[in-house]
Amino acid sequence: MIVSVQDAINILRAGGVVALPTETVYGLAGNATNPQAVAQIFAVKNRPADNPLICHFADIASIEQYVETLSPLTRRLLERFSPGPISVMADLPVDSPLRFATCGSLQVIVRIPNHPLTLTVLHEVTFPLAAPSANTSGQLSPTTAQMVEADLGQKGIAVVDGGACRVGVESTIVDARAGDVVRILRPGAIGPAELLQVMPAVRCTIVSDGQTAVPGSRHRHYAPRTPVYLWKTPPGFVVPDSAVLLLEEQRKQLEPLLSRPGLHVRQLVLGSLANLEETARNFYQRLHQLDSLGVKQAFFLKTDWGSSSLGLALQDRMNKICQSPNETGIGNV
Ligand code: TXA
Ligand code: MG
Repeated sequence: MIVSVQDAINILRAGGVVALPTETVYGLAGNATNPQAVAQIFAVKNRPADNPLICHFADIASIEQYVETLSPLTRRLLERFSPGPISVMADLPVDSPLRFATCGSLQVIVRIPNHPLTLTVLHEVTFPLAAPSANTSGQLSPTTAQMVEADLGQKGIAVVDGGACRVGVESTIVDARAGDVVRILRPGAIGPAELLQVMPAVRCTIVSDGQTAVPGSRHRHYAPRTPVYLWKTPPGFVVPDSAVLLLEEQRKQLEPLLSRPGLHVRQLVLGSLANLEETARNFYQRLHQLDSLGVKQAFFLKTDWGSSSLGLALQDRMNKICQSPNETGIGNV
């Protein structure tokens, strides 16, 4: 059910949950200081109880009402990139009302989303909003109101339709509490290039999956229902009942395979490396489309996404989605 901004404000004030647009992906929002609202978010998403929720605020002053003093570097990041697709880690006082949302942790991840409708909601309600991506746990993050409805509609979740998300992949999560280093805990649209441009004296590290400080990365994430297998090199043929996910740049390489007569394989173009902004914007919608094709499996030819921020972010999401062919043997054909 699509609802108005005013309806969303009423639902949130009454302690309910509602899906809201952000510039990255849609979020399933509830009052972050209300244990019942937080519990409802976990229940609707079927989210593991040890996976804390990002808290969303209207502005930096509101963040500062809830967290211990921000490190100067964290503050600079917020001033430079917010509202926008960046989330920062901050410390909480022991008696913080946000500890339901953080699953008891004394660290919280906060962000100021850059979407006019959701900023209006945040200014009106005056409490912070816990808002993980508005999908059942383990499924794709939604980037349109229709994707939210397809997943959570049957559960009676109302959605504010703010159009297709402008960025399309989840926010960059950073920990800049140490003062001289920005640790990227989840890559996103703001990456090393943007960070170093505005703070050249600061070190920037990307925390790899094995040592990640973001619990969500431990859980299976961001994946379509259709299994996707990674080809290391172009194969000789494709098993029937499959789809191939493609980048424009891979067409030539896969031409001999895809032009075989009698080959009934669906092709789904993810976008191009030459326009990663558009590719990111459409990424989850394409994968959602994959699930609607009804094929048994899909394949993707390993590619170098490059070292730009969106390249790193898309590589990260693709790593999480793709299963290694060797695990099942299916991709070895
Ligand atoms: O772009 C975004 O960040 C979107 C929109 C809706 O704002 N939100 C989002 O939330 O992606 P979610 O819950 O799908 O992903 C948040 C990630 C999870 O991996 C979670 O484990 C981690 O952030 N996280 C949240 N709070 C945390 C905390 N206090 N400590 C460590 N990790 C945390
Ligand atoms: Mg999520």
